[in-house]
Amino acid sequence: MDRHVCPWWLGYLLASPIRRLWQKPEEILRPHLREGMTALDIGSGMGFFTFPMAEMVGPKGKVIAIDLQSKMIKSLKKRAKRKELDDRIDARTCDENSLRIDDLKGQVDFALVMAVVHEVPESPQFFRQIHSALKPDGRLLFAEPTGHIDESEFTSSRATAVEQGFSIVQPLQVKRTHAALLQKA
Ligand SMILES: C[S@@+](CC[C@H](N)C(=O)[O-])C[C@H]1O[C@@H](n2cnc3c(N)ncnc32)[C@H](O)[C@@H]1O
Repeated sequence: MDRHVCPWWLGYLLASPIRRLWQKPEEILRPHLREGMTALDIGSGMGFFTFPMAEMVGPKGKVIAIDLQSKMIKSLKKRAKRKELDDRIDARTCDENSLRIDDLKGQVDFALVMAVVHEVPESPQFFRQIHSALKPDGRLLFAEPTGHIDESEFTSSRATAVEQGFSIVQPLQVKRTHAALLQKA
């Protein structure tokens, strides 16, 4: 499998409003987010999903956006300020093999991992860290792009998540992705 990391400049395209023509963050995430929740957007890029998540958790909630590339996070922070959402978004860079979320153990209600796992070198470790950050009934929406990843690769990554303690709640229909809703078992 290609482990090529998405170039930082593609972040601008991924965060473009044009993407809303086929992926509407509110439609995808509304069933999973409520006011006051703590949510994680892992591999956030420049924030296409982070900002709608911040709107949905409201002023009493919090979104932690994490990305490997500092240019993604720098742009996300600028956009958060412009949108006046910076008070509820904690944007962080991480390492290839460490999400640096030990401080969040057992505190997260919901995590999103959209189009990221195929870029991660050690997916068991990656899922284990998310599992540990979630509350006992916390959920993970995990999706991979159909353009890069075939069904069998997605099924294999999902099996890795299950080996790390997740159970499958249900498959999900998210346009141009293979997707599943998982729960901390
Ligand atoms: C294809 S982009 C998807 C961005 C965003 N989730 C979206 O759907 O718009 C993949 C993102 O994952 C990040 N990434 C790659 N490997 C990572 C890792 N090991 N840990 C955290 N982020 C990573 C990349 O820097 C990039 O921003």
